[in-house]
Amino acid sequence: MKLTLHVWRQRNAGAAGRMVRYEARNVSAHMSFLEMLDVVNDELTLKGEDPIAFDSDCREGICGTCGFMINGVAHGPRRGTTVCQLHMRSFQDGEVLYLEPWRARAFPVVKDLVVDRSAFDRVIQAGGFVSVSTGSAPDGNAILVPKPAADLAMDAAACIGCGACVAACPNASAALFTGAKITHLAKLPQGQPERYARVLEMVEQTRQELFGSCTNIGECEAVCPKHIPLEVIAHMNRDFIRGSWRRRPESLAAGAG
Ligand code: SF4
Ligand code: FES
Repeated sequence: MKLTLHVWRQRNAGAAGRMVRYEARNVSAHMSFLEMLDVVNDELTLKGEDPIAFDSDCREGICGTCGFMINGVAHGPRRGTTVCQLHMRSFQDGEVLYLEPWRARAFPVVKDLVVDRSAFDRVIQAGGFVSVSTGSAPDGNAILVPKPAADLAMDAAACIGCGACVAACPNASAALFTGAKITHLAKLPQGQPERYARVLEMVEQTRQELFGSCTNIGECEAVCPKHIPLEVIAHMNRDFIRGSWRRRPESLAAGAG
């Protein structure tokens, strides 16, 4: 296969960026998308040119490090698939592809296709943890968890923090990511002590990081490689309202009688 790539090249966060055209030749259908870029980068390096910067780590779809836009779609055309697990058999010989980094104010470009997602780390630091001592691995039957709650917690825990949801959202909202982290803990007994403080702190942090608000468009769910459902945003919003009510000033609480 032969492909034409138009890749966003940007030396650093302060520099102006532009699309640069490359030809990817001798592409095997069995290559992953990142392996195809590795080959393009080998050629660039041999020519003494700067290779295209992109993030990756596990290349197994589990770490959340990789991700960029392919023809305007976060992680590319295959649903439920990270760009490291996207294979070239998903494309046709002669296709023209446009590769761009995640576009969001909270994710500044570091270089080319690499963005700084440390805003997600700070959202987690604001409350995405439990402080109860969980001791050693307990017997699976020691703390009973209703099956529907366990299933939703597991589904939410599948979020790998890749940021595709933010990149796809017209508001650059982090609601799907934050909702996943909140729902994961809120559904389990160990997450109860800090449940309402957690949602208030994490949502406030998303505001400080300049993520936008959710307006229920659903682009996030469509591109999420882990099929995180919009339902987690509803759980987050419900806990946020409950948490706000619990934290209301004493005077209002007394007045509300
Ligand atoms: S919710 Fe989905 S798209 Fe968003 S960070 Fe988690 S895994 Fe990625
Ligand atoms: S490199 Fe780990 S999910 Fe893609």
